[in-house]
Formats: sequence, structure tokens, C-alpha cells
Amino acid sequence: MERSMPRLTVIGTGYLGATHAICMAVLGYEVLGVDVDGAKVARLASGEVPFFEPGLPELLVKALESGRLRFTTSYAEAGDFGDVHFLCVGTPQRPGSYAADLRFVDAAVTELAHHLHRRALVVGKSTVPIGTAARLTEMVRRLAPAGDRVELAWNPEFLREGYAVDDTMRPDRLVFGVASPWAQERLRAAYAPVLAQGTPAVVTDLATAELVKVAANAFLATKISYINAMAEVCEGTGADVRDLAEALAYDDRIGGRFLKPGLGFGGGCLPKDIRAFLHRAEELGVGQAVSFLREVDDINKRRRARTVDLVREVVGGELAGVRVAALGAAFKPNSDDVRDAPALDVARALHAAGAAVRVFDPAAMENARRTHPELSYGDSAMDVARGADVVVLLTEWAEFREIDPVALAAVVAHPRIVDGRHALDAAAWRAAGWEYRALGRPPTLFPKSLPGCAEPRRRPAAPGVRPHTTPVCDLAPDLPDRRLDPGSPRQTF
Ligand code: UDX
Repeated sequence: MERSMPRLTVIGTGYLGATHAICMAVLGYEVLGVDVDGAKVARLASGEVPFFEPGLPELLVKALESGRLRFTTSYAEAGDFGDVHFLCVGTPQRPGSYAADLRFVDAAVTELAHHLHRRALVVGKSTVPIGTAARLTEMVRRLAPAGDRVELAWNPEFLREGYAVDDTMRPDRLVFGVASPWAQERLRAAYAPVLAQGTPAVVTDLATAELVKVAANAFLATKISYINAMAEVCEGTGADVRDLAEALAYDDRIGGRFLKPGLGFGGGCLPKDIRAFLHRAEELGVGQAVSFLREVDDINKRRRARTVDLVREVVGGELAGVRVAALGAAFKPNSDDVRDAPALDVARALHAAGAAVRVFDPAAMENARRTHPELSYGDSAMDVARGADVVVLLTEWAEFREIDPVALAAVVAHPRIVDGRHALDAAAWRAAGWEYRALGRPPTLFPKSLPGCAEPRRRPAAPGVRPHTTPVCDLAPDLPDRRLDPGSPRQTF
């Protein structure tokens, strides 16, 4: 007789796995987290989350107190305990190649399979190349004592760092890639409280489930690179990409999310996922269909180089000896993750060009110091800005957006700022005496004539660009998206 609330194991307690294990225990399941790293297991078991994620430390304490969450390094214990085993190990980019490195997935499945003595479902959550689930099905059945009674399913995760708890507890959708009605039933049982909230579940075959994840990340990366490509066009025409993005975002069919121009995407997912997708599609003979992703990657990389160029331009053409205050190191706010971080890439390039770069980030200092020991670091935004020739905003943390431009102007050597993330109110900074520059925006902005938008009329519309007929106030920090309006119905398929 199968348990209506299956006992869960979560193999791999990194970012995804730890979050999944903790949230599932909070939702009422008995959960065993498994990792080969004894130190990580010990930290989690003692109530310490080994990375920065808002809300997660509190939930870990709650889950441990409930008695439903434990951690181990033993696969034998996992095999004995679990009815549904979630695979959450990493799939990084393989060194020297675009391909995903499946070493950790293969090792985890091999280890676990040897200890599967009864009927069980192994559920992949890691982002993998299409075809991996089929290969692992064969492998697990060959190795497991329970043989064909072990099934494999794929259930990709879409969680964003910084919103991991919410994305796990209240996801937009669940995707169940299954090979049998039994596997679907087990997944429904493993997600019962989430489904009870009305979360849509899309049931597919294994390959489609694998593809959903890479297709979603490829789409998001493409949307970001699209608006950044428009920023390049704006740079060549004198048009303003921020106004452009705002106007596009009001079109419901386009929407404002992931349409924010700036330094582009980084992190542990989007860059490596689009590369692995390209690689796998080429292996499968459909490389042409996704060859545009190479351009998406190139546009993204050009934003970093162009930011360095803009800093050079702002300081008069020569970076050697220039004192730069770099605000931000993490690949995005509310995260301490510096994997493929555009911010650190720019700081590193400025340093390599001879600038004296001082970096501050509210959460990622330890990680940044470890990966970029050549840079110097300060204690606060004010601290790194003291005596700076130029300030460069590289990660749009709220505390940077809230900086008082008057107070900061008082400590720098020259009030010049490059806003790499389009995060600041240009008019307010200019009014405080700053030279404000952002990629894809002209050096002086088009005047807005609504109250509260008191930019003086400094230049006519750029040649070839139609002037605004209706005055529009400067763009709100986040672009509009009606999907975020609580009044509008949630879209499902
Ligand atoms: C992403 C996906 O969103 C998530 O669904 C998947 O599970 C993992 O990969 P994450 O890496 O946490 O999540 O970051 P995300 O919030 O998607 O941002 C990715 C990058 O794009 C960041 O560097 C961010 O600064 C950048 N970005 C995002 C932009 O440059 N412009 C935007 O408009 C949005």
C-alpha cells in the first residue's frame, strides 16, 4: 500500500535542493536531504543555510523543529527512506565546451540506484540536455535491485535566486514529464498542497519536460538580449532605450518583465543553459533552429565590454590610474551569487585596463573576494566612493537605488556616474550635480514636461527620431506588466 503523502529524498543540497527540501518539509512532507559534502550537511542540520536567500533561514529552523526534515551523506539511508527521490545536483558548463557537465547527475543516479530495493520514483529537477532522462531510465533500471519497478520522471524547476521560497511554494506552473500514469499519480501526491492552491500542472513526456526548462531560459535570455540589442541601436541613433522599453512594455503581448536594458544577464543558469542548448541541438541535428542563441550570448557579452567603454569615455578616454567605485558584485540583487556575474566581469576589465577599482556589494563580498582577489573591496557604498573619479552601478540593489546623490557627491572626487542597470533616477542625480550616463541613453535626456519631471529642455530630439507627442513621465523602476496587476486573471494554458 503506497503512502498518500510519499516520503521524499532530495539528492544534492545546493541552491535548488536545499530550498526544495526545506519547503517540502514546511508543506508537511517527511524529507531527507542527501549530499556528498559532509560539511554542508552538518551546516544544514544545525540550522544554517550555506548561501544567501531571503526567507530561507527562518523556514529551515521551522522545518527542523517540525522533526520532518533531516540531512545525511548516506545513499543507503536515502534508498531505504524515500518513495520519491528528487535529483537536484548541479549541471555546470563543461570546461572548454558549451556542453553541460553531467558528471554529478550520473554519479548521484548511480549511487542511489544501488540502494533502490522497492518500487520508487526518481524525479529529475536539474537542468539537463534533452535525452538525459531516457538515458538515466535505462541506467537506473540496470543498476537498481528493484529493476523495472523503479521509474524516472522529469520535473524541471524554475526558481529564481532571491525569490526561491516563493517560486517553490507558489510556482507559476508545475511540469510533470512522465512515462506512466503511476509516475503522474506519485508526482501529484508529492505536490498535493501546491496543486491544491490551483497551480496548473502540465503533463508531458520526458523529452518535452526537459525541453520546457531550456526553452524557458532561452526565451528569457532572448528577451533581455533583444532590449539590449535595441540599446545598441539607440546608441547609434541618439534614441533612448528606456523610453523605448516603456513604450513596448505597455503592449500586453510584449510585457515589461525581462525587458530591462542594461548590463545583461549572468548567474549560474541563463548563460550556461543557452550554451548547453546550442550544443545539444547541434548534436541532434537541429542546431540551425537555435543558432540565434549564439547571437543572444554575443549581444549579452558586448554589454559588458560596452559598459567598460562608457566608463572610459566618461573619464576622458584613459582608464589607467582612474579611481573607480564599483557598486555591486552579485549577478543580480538579493543574491550573493557571483557566477558569471556581469558586475565582476566589468570590475575585472576596468582593473585590467589600469583603473584602481574598489568594490562593494551588500551580500556577495565573501564570494567576490574569493573569485577576484585582485580587486580591492570596501565596507559600504560611501566608503568605496570616497575620492572616486567615477562611480559605476553594476548590481541594482535597493540600497544603491536609495543612495542620496547629494550625500554621495560630497565624498567623490568627480561626480560622474555610469548607471549600468538603469536603476537610478537620472533627473535627481543630474539635479544633484552629477554627470549621469547609462547605456542606450543619450548624454542629455529628452525633456519630460509633466509635474515632477522637471528636466530642463537641453536638446532637440535626435535626428531621425520622432519626438514624443504625449509627454510621458520617466520610467518607473520596474517596467509595467499587467500580469502583475492583482486584478487581472492569472493566465494558464
Ligand atoms: C533564472 C530563471 O529566471 C529561472 O526561472 C531559472 O530557474 C534559473 O535561471 P536566476 O538565474 O535566479 O533565474 O535569475 P533571473 O532573475 O532570471 O535573472 C537572470 C539575469 O538576467 C540577471 O543577471 C539579471 O540581472 C538579468 N536581467 C533580468 C536583466 O538584465 N534584465 C531583465 O529585464 C531581467
